[in-house]
Amino acid sequence: MSRHATLVLFLACGAVFHLSHGVEVNVTDAGGKLCLYAKMMVNFSVSYELANKENKTVKFELPNGATKDGSKCEAKDSTLKLNFGDGHSLSMNFTKNGETYQADAINFFYNLNDSSLFPDSLSNETVNVVMKPQITNIGMDTCYSCNSDDLIQAKNVNMTLWNVLIQAFVSNGSRSQTITSCKADTPTTTVPPTTHATSTTTVAPVTNITTPAPPPTTTPTPPPTPPPTGKYSVKTGNSTVCLLATFGLRIGFKQGERYQEMNLEPNVTKYTGSCGVNSSELQLMSNTMTISFTFTNDTKKFWLHALNVTANTSSGAVFNQGNTSLSLWEAAVGSSYLCNKEQNYTITDLLTLYTFNLQVQPVEVKKNDFSTAHECSLDDTSILIPIIVGAALAGLILIVVIAYVIGRRKTYVGYQTL
Ligand SMILES: *[C@@H]1O[C@H](CO)[C@@H](O)[C@H](O)[C@H]1NC(C)=O
Ligand SMILES: *[C@@H]1O[C@H](CO)[C@@H](O)[C@H](O)[C@H]1NC(C)=O
Ligand SMILES: *[C@@H]1O[C@H](CO)[C@@H](O)[C@H](O)[C@H]1NC(C)=O
Ligand SMILES: *[C@@H]1O[C@H](CO)[C@@H](O)[C@H](O)[C@H]1NC(C)=O
Ligand SMILES: *[C@@H]1O[C@H](CO)[C@@H](O)[C@H](O)[C@H]1NC(C)=O
Ligand SMILES: *[C@@H]1O[C@H](CO)[C@@H](O)[C@H](O)[C@H]1NC(C)=O
Ligand SMILES: *[C@@H]1O[C@H](CO)[C@@H](O)[C@H](O)[C@H]1NC(C)=O
Ligand SMILES: *[C@@H]1O[C@H](CO)[C@@H](O)[C@H](O)[C@H]1NC(C)=O
Ligand SMILES: *[C@@H]1O[C@H](CO)[C@@H](O)[C@H](O)[C@H]1NC(C)=O
Ligand SMILES: *[C@@H]1O[C@H](CO)[C@@H](O)[C@H](O)[C@H]1NC(C)=O
Ligand SMILES: *[C@@H]1O[C@H](CO)[C@@H](O)[C@H](O)[C@H]1NC(C)=O
Ligand SMILES: *[C@@H]1O[C@H](CO)[C@@H](O)[C@H](O)[C@H]1NC(C)=O
Repeated sequence: MSRHATLVLFLACGAVFHLSHGVEVNVTDAGGKLCLYAKMMVNFSVSYELANKENKTVKFELPNGATKDGSKCEAKDSTLKLNFGDGHSLSMNFTKNGETYQADAINFFYNLNDSSLFPDSLSNETVNVVMKPQITNIGMDTCYSCNSDDLIQAKNVNMTLWNVLIQAFVSNGSRSQTITSCKADTPTTTVPPTTHATSTTTVAPVTNITTPAPPPTTTPTPPPTPPPTGKYSVKTGNSTVCLLATFGLRIGFKQGERYQEMNLEPNVTKYTGSCGVNSSELQLMSNTMTISFTFTNDTKKFWLHALNVTANTSSGAVFNQGNTSLSLWEAAVGSSYLCNKEQNYTITDLLTLYTFNLQVQPVEVKKNDFSTAHECSLDDTSILIPIIVGAALAGLILIVVIAYVIGRRKTYVGYQTL
């Protein structure tokens, strides 16, 4: 039964799609490879002044005959330009921002001299309206998808984007099968079919690309089991150990709207590193991630100075984030840093590091083993206090016992002399 229902729905979508207006463009780079893809529908509502000084509001749609002249792809930014009618155009600028990209601005040019759209216009000028879209934080190598209405308001212009599917910075010439959905699309897994105009829009998953849809953000991935503890060491040229590290590691990162966590599996992790005069490095490579730790030292202490994480996600997109101004895991030269409790560190806005059973010594390793440990504050309070209290109690008991023994002896001696 339900199968039949979906089939009917799909046919309906097809019908709706063919009747609807909308634009699809493939922008190619100098080499003829796809570098920007866009498919969307836009409704405009523009208010303008008539010759008799009254204001008039006209509504029109982005026609499907729009052309893409003026669209271009650069290394760091790209422009999508859709030209239509008599001198009107809509352009979007996209920029890269680390592992994400965004639409920075929408420029809408409308020509009031076009009497077919703006009859009796007082002005004959071309007006430029700059708008700020909410199309941000899209994972690199993913398509931005938004079937819901996205209303953008500006002076004299209201613009509604819907059934939007865009990918800027397309790598290797083919559109990604992974999607970053807009917020409006994600929380409503059960779409309320009550709204008037949207009823046609909600049944339009225009492309068939939605198959590997990301898991709904409402059900976050369950916390994985604690990562196993791995042991890593780096040797100098004459094979003395110069860096020692033991820890279980998990990373948590955000790609577009999606947050995920990954454990480092020590049994499939290869490692390498180097020790310099005042810095040392440890690099871990598993099948899913590459992490490099850079430690630095002055004459008194060492600390974790830089971290760079590259992860290959299940979607196939690569995540990379790093921070080169950290001061974590600080301890005196000649000792090691120890933190057994689970710890989390915010490395960047998009990256969190979780450690378990951590002990590191990046400089001055003696006899291939850790030196005295400097414990992190969490361990200090949870382990040191009981130890101090225990030691104090033991001392007290010892004093009482000694006092008792001395007392017994004195009395005994006293009886003897009697
Ligand atoms: C864009 O390219 C895809 C294939 O990559 C093709 O199916 C589609 O028809 C093209 N659209 C336009 C408007 O050229
Ligand atoms: C028309 O709109 C402009 C703003 O765009 C406003 O300043 C003007 O008062 C309006 N005129 C009338 C007749 O409503
Ligand atoms: C968008 O990009 C084009 C071409 O790169 C540039 O001329 C224009 O000024 C940009 N617009 C905005 C609002 O950044
Ligand atoms: C626009 O209108 C002005 C007069 O209001 C006229 O001089 C000018 O030629 C017109 N421009 C166009 C492109 O029609
Ligand atoms: C845009 O929308 C607002 C609020 O819905 C409305 O007040 C305004 O008149 C609209 N402007 C145009 C040009 O449609
Ligand atoms: C866009 O305009 C068309 C008619 O021009 C209308 O059928 C459709 O519902 C509108 N869509 C939105 C999202 O406003
Ligand atoms: C989806 O796309 C694949 C190729 O990418 C094609 O084989 C398949 O028939 C399409 N399915 C639908 C429902 O369009
Ligand atoms: C190895 O080299 C380090 C300096 O890099 C030196 O301190 C150490 O004594 C050397 N060990 C051996 C066995 O040669
Ligand atoms: C690595 O360890 C995990 C458990 O931590 C285990 O599931 C997996 O099979 C192991 N893989 C290899 C290659 O030993
Ligand atoms: C630490 O750094 C200083 C330079 O800042 C360097 O002279 C020293 O050898 C380094 N190593 C140790 C173990 O102190
Ligand atoms: C991290 O490493 C990658 C590859 O080695 C490099 O491209 C990137 O610039 C590094 N990032 C930082 C923040 O150091
Ligand atoms: C990170 O650690 C703090 C305490 O240091 C704790 O309150 C917080 O819940 C932890 N966050 C996560 C996501 O584990």
